[in-house]
This record gives sequence, structure tokens and C-alpha cells, in this order.
Amino acid sequence: MTGRLAGRVALVTGGASGIGRAVAERLVADGAVVAIGDIQDSSAVAGGHCRGFHADLSQPGAATTLVGEVVQAFGQLDILINNAGIATPTPFSADFDEAGYQHLLQINLTASVACAAAAIAAFLAVDPPRGVIVNISSVHEIVPKPGYLAYAISKGGMGALTRTLALEYADRGIRVNGVGPGATLTAMNQRWAEDPDQRAVVERHIPMGRAADPAEIAGAVAFLASDEASYITGQTLHVCGGLSLYADFQKNWST
Ligand SMILES: NC(=O)c1ccc[n+]([C@@H]2O[C@H](COP(=O)([O-])OP(=O)(O)OC[C@H]3O[C@@H](n4cnc5c(N)ncnc54)[C@H](O)[C@@H]3O)[C@@H](O)[C@H]2O)c1
Repeated sequence: MTGRLAGRVALVTGGASGIGRAVAERLVADGAVVAIGDIQDSSAVAGGHCRGFHADLSQPGAATTLVGEVVQAFGQLDILINNAGIATPTPFSADFDEAGYQHLLQINLTASVACAAAAIAAFLAVDPPRGVIVNISSVHEIVPKPGYLAYAISKGGMGALTRTLALEYADRGIRVNGVGPGATLTAMNQRWAEDPDQRAVVERHIPMGRAADPAEIAGAVAFLASDEASYITGQTLHVCGGLSLYADFQKNWST
């Protein structure tokens, strides 16, 4: 296999659909062998240089088991893409749904921490150590999201995970970065993406005037996973059509 990721083994969590699927396909196109860990069947993506592993990351311990299975199957792990996530609303009120909050945090953040811990152990087991983690965050790492407190906290946490591990392992050949997508056309956004009126409302708020194709997110992920990003660590690259740039200031209204 040729390509800038030839010889690398990558694990993409949540790679059965949406952004994760586009990332898995892009990493394979760049020469990597890819494992997908997902609660959904990933056989439509798997085949050739891609293999699916069943994992329910809402279950404590599942992330560690998943990384162990991938290392066992391929004998190495070079790249971890922490992508699996859900975006259910968690309205903030007196009857705050603590169980729903914990469930979202477990999938979006805690499983990412556990995958990172197991992946870093595999990265350090080779001599010299080397490895790359890309955390799929969101513009909501930095932009608040009322009505979705757990989601916003999970993505803020992804930013902290990225920067903290990047600093901790910078001198041991391990890079940790994030990608923060804006509105992207995946199952997560089916409700508005398939309704032309609602989609127009969403796209009016995006400075570039359109939602992203998952492949546009995957391109940034593959770059950060490759040696072309060899001197980049601890950064979240927002791939969002300008959504993180205070879109309401696009036309001046303040003076
Ligand atoms: N679509 C967007 O607009 C957008 C924007 C910013 C960030 N993101 C982030 O991108 C990531 C991917 O989302 P997407 O838009 O591709 O959504 P998606 O629903 O298409 O994909 C999410 C994937 O995660 C998997 N998953 C969900 N729960 C799981 C569990 N318990 N165990 C294992 N896998 C599980 C799903 O099966 C699915 O394959 C998420 O972290 C999401 O927060 C998406």
C-alpha cells in the first residue's frame, strides 16, 4: 500500500456512519489499515483494508477492551480517532436528567479518555514511541450550546483532553490534536438536513452559507494524523465554514 499513511494502523471510533465513516474511508485511501469500533454494524464500510469491531462505548470498560482487540488483531496501533458521539438535548432544569447527562458524557468524553489511555500504552510499547490521536470535538468546544449542556461540556472536555495529553506526551513522540466540525451533513443532523426550510435556516447562520460534507472534515483529520502535521500538537482545528467566528458579526451592527 502506498500513501502518506502506509504502514499505519488506525482505530476510528464511531466509524460506521457520518464523519467517522468518511474518516475511515479517507485514512484507507491514504494507505492506512483501519479498524472501526462502533455499536452499529460497520460491514458497509469494512472490507479490504478496513475491519469492524463491535463496541458499545456507553459501557464502562468497553473502550479499553476495544483498543486491546485492535492491538491484538493488527499487532500495532499508530493512530486513534476519537469520534463516536451522540448529541441528545439535555435541558437544564430543576429535574435535571442526571442519567441522560452521564450517558452522553460516557460516550462522548469518558470513552475517549479511556481509548486514549489504552492507545498511549500501545504507542509507548514500541521503540522509539510514536503515535497520533485526533479527537473529534465540535465548534461547541468553544461556542456555548443552550439546551445541550452535556454536549457542550463533553466537547469542552475534548479540548482539555487534547491540550493536556499533548503537553504531557510532547517529548515522547506522541501528538494529540482535535478537529472541531461545524454543521455537517450526517445522521446526527437528519432532522434539519432533510427539510429544505429548516436546512436553509441552519445554513443562513453559517458564514460560508452551507453545511459541510463529511469528507471535508475527514480531510483535516487525515492531515493531522499524517506526518505533514509533524510539528502540530495540542490544537483544535475548527472545520466549520466560519461558524466559530461569531457569525452574527458578519454584517456590522454594533456601531
Ligand atoms: N454532524 C455534525 O454537525 C457534527 C458537528 C460537530 C461535531 N460532530 C461530532 O462528530 C462525531 C461524529 O458524529 P456524526 O455527525 O458523524 O454522527 P453520526 O450519528 O453519523 O455518527 C456517530 C457514530 O457514533 C456511533 N456511536 C454512537 N453511540 C455509540 C456507542 N455507544 N458506542 C459506539 N459507537 C457509538 C454511531 O453508531 C455512529 O456510527 C461526534 O463526536 C459528533 O459530536 C458532529
